[in-house]
Amino acid sequence: DTSLPKAVKIKLDETGPHVKLRNGQDAESKGTRVRVIGRVHRERKQKDVLFVTLRDGYGFMQCVITGQLAKTYDALTLTRETSMEVYGEMFEVPAGAHAPLNRELHADYYKINHEWKAAGGDDAITNRVQAKGDPSTLLDLRHLTLRGEVASSVMFVRDAIEFAFHQAYKETRVRKVSPPALVQTQVEGGATLFKFDYYGEPAFLTQSSQLYLETCLPSMGDVYCIEKSFRAEKSLTRRHLSEYTHIEAELDFITFDDLLTHLEHIICRVLELTLADPVIAGYIKVLNPDFKLPERPFKRMKYSDAIEWLREHDIPNEEGQPHTFGDDIAEAAERRMTDIINRPIFLTHFPVEIKAFYMQRDKEDPRVTESVDCLMPGVGEIVGGSMRLDDYEQLMAAFKREGLDPAPYYWYTDQRKYGSSPHGGYGLGLERFLAWLCKQHTVRDCCLYPRYMGRCTP
Ligand code: 4AD
Repeated sequence: DTSLPKAVKIKLDETGPHVKLRNGQDAESKGTRVRVIGRVHRERKQKDVLFVTLRDGYGFMQCVITGQLAKTYDALTLTRETSMEVYGEMFEVPAGAHAPLNRELHADYYKINHEWKAAGGDDAITNRVQAKGDPSTLLDLRHLTLRGEVASSVMFVRDAIEFAFHQAYKETRVRKVSPPALVQTQVEGGATLFKFDYYGEPAFLTQSSQLYLETCLPSMGDVYCIEKSFRAEKSLTRRHLSEYTHIEAELDFITFDDLLTHLEHIICRVLELTLADPVIAGYIKVLNPDFKLPERPFKRMKYSDAIEWLREHDIPNEEGQPHTFGDDIAEAAERRMTDIINRPIFLTHFPVEIKAFYMQRDKEDPRVTESVDCLMPGVGEIVGGSMRLDDYEQLMAAFKREGLDPAPYYWYTDQRKYGSSPHGGYGLGLERFLAWLCKQHTVRDCCLYPRYMGRCTP
């Protein structure tokens, strides 16, 4: 109807003076005529009325289609996920009814192009996704399940968290760099290296950008990166991926205590910045209703005290024996301890033998390293960090102890020749952080397309 006012194009979450609602009770009050475009998230037919919830990635909107508009071929055959463009005036929802942002669009016109129509019948999205609930099929259909409310909420929180890390690092004057992903050195042990042929030379996908970050300290001061790390993890657990997003930072001229204080600050500041956005806070509230900001300071617990704690609580090691000093605390035991203590824990001072070659030893107790894992309830370890060996001779001895040839690390060991410094850093697994914050059972649901042993699709 060309006599109707020109429609304003809006996103489905848009509000403000330019999208005035008509008050349902007051027929005289005028609203704005709008034009919205989205996909059919849900549709419901009631007598002669077709209710459509549109989705556009910014929000949801209830559209009410009545009269002749509800009787067209397109309306009668409307399928979920079909894209459509709807014009009309927005009203407050009637008292007692519920709709997103308490409003509904009363359509006066809509358009569905032929190629916008989504498959129906056996091939309808609901039949493909909902009928087959097993996790593996759902992951084969990740490109479709991502359209669901839970999956997309986690992705929105992920976007906000990544942005908050950038912001928190900027506030703390930590500079962003972008180290290479294709490398010829290892950081976290040979067992999880992905090897490939690099123009005839052996090379690996990076396990961690740490060593490269360390080389930036002399010129750039404190640095961080948010890059992919790759681990050929041969066990299938709910917290291991083959490709994950690694948030790593390296700080110069610090003590171990400075490292812990910084880490606590960054985690809390990122949460504070993220929750300051009411939309993101709303997603977190739905995903994890009981979430509370962690109390500061975080509980600090030495590895040796954790071993005692595990013994006292009859939580055995992987061989079913009581834990003893020197045991690697396995995933199950670590998670049980974290769940019982039920607050973030900085677990520190791990024995030299079970930690990476580059870690600084504790001056008071040379059996242990200045190392930290941050453990969160429900997930366990989300951060691993340490002070780094800063003495050339000690670093060379560590390479020898691990049976590593130091030659390919010349660019790393040179850092100890040309102005070494007390420094340290950490890596945080973004998917594990999200699994904790969004109360997801597995890190596989905290990235777009998870990669783990046996899955490289879609
Ligand atoms: O403890 P990790 O192996 O430490 C390092 O890589 C150090 N070089 C980091 C540094 O100091 N710059 O890994 C750090 C974190 C873990 O705490 C965990 O959150 C995550 O990376 N992570 C994984 N996340 C998902 N899947 C995997 N396979 C992961 N391996 C480690």
